[in-house]
Amino acid sequence: MKEQLEKIKSQAFEALEQAKASADLEELRVRLLGKKGELTAVLKMMGKLSPEDRPVMGQLANSVRAAIEEKLETRKAELAAAALEAKLAAEALDVTVPGTSRPLGHKHPMYIALDEAKEIFIGMGFQILEGPEVELAEYNFTKLNTEEGHPARDWSDTFYIKEDSSILLRTQTSPMQIRAMEAIKHPPIRILAPGRVYRKDEVDATHSPMFHQIEGLVIDKGITMADLKGTLETLVKSLYGEDSVVRFRPHHFPFTEPSCEVDVQCFKCHGAGCPTCKGEGWIELLGAGMVHPKVLEGCGIDPRVYSGFAFGIGLERMAMRRFQISDLRLIFENDVRFLRQF
Ligand code: DAH
Repeated sequence: MKEQLEKIKSQAFEALEQAKASADLEELRVRLLGKKGELTAVLKMMGKLSPEDRPVMGQLANSVRAAIEEKLETRKAELAAAALEAKLAAEALDVTVPGTSRPLGHKHPMYIALDEAKEIFIGMGFQILEGPEVELAEYNFTKLNTEEGHPARDWSDTFYIKEDSSILLRTQTSPMQIRAMEAIKHPPIRILAPGRVYRKDEVDATHSPMFHQIEGLVIDKGITMADLKGTLETLVKSLYGEDSVVRFRPHHFPFTEPSCEVDVQCFKCHGAGCPTCKGEGWIELLGAGMVHPKVLEGCGIDPRVYSGFAFGIGLERMAMRRFQISDLRLIFENDVRFLRQF
């Protein structure tokens, strides 16, 4: 019986050592220690032993049982640790492997140019204003000294919203001059108002029925044409470089007197004339002028005390010049092959 017990123990240890999963251990536990197990079967034969041998064998049987139980526990812990180890190894993440990069969007070139212009004007003390694209004809025209019957008010040029021509899609950001004066009331006024404008134009390389302007307005005591020139020269040189050449050319706008247009010397040919500037040597950038006394008066500002200048910049044109883009349509088509270049 002693040999039998020793054999059970050594076989049990071997089997436990070979077990590969905790399920195997459970099976072994039943086989070795269960009611129908090998050890139980041996213990059942204890009755046949002599009274002297019985306690000795009993003790031995108990120690075998204890040893097997202990071995079971050890193996259980070992297998659990191994399983955890394997799981962690399988889930291991190499944080040094380079990731898959996804293309991210970025600012549109026209807005890059707009933000640059805003920064320049904010630096000169301007305040940024925004206003409605659906505008009163009164603000878009009448209060800008553009009376009924003026050709700019023609139905062939303007998207009117109401049959009676009282509401329209603004054709320029200039109504923001009126809104600024009405809102701020007391000069000094220094505002910049970027936004969309609409005109009945066919799409081509330089036209679109929707485009953007940046309106500027400065009103204070003693403002002169020299302030206008200095401000716009600062803008052009900051945008296009210190060596840019600016030209002020007389023009007419109903809401400014005197009025001018501002050109920049062509960046390609430096004034000689080339296809980019259509042989002109100059590229038109904006309209400007001294605010008409009638406009000031209409907004409750006394033209005998205050004067001011205003300007309107074509934003697309400014961005095209800034990034040397040759066709306006590229700005609106949003072809990623084009946009990626900025
Ligand atoms: N609103 C004019 C246009 O769309 C541009 C312009 C000219 C704006 C002179 C001004 C200005 O503020 O003073 O053609």
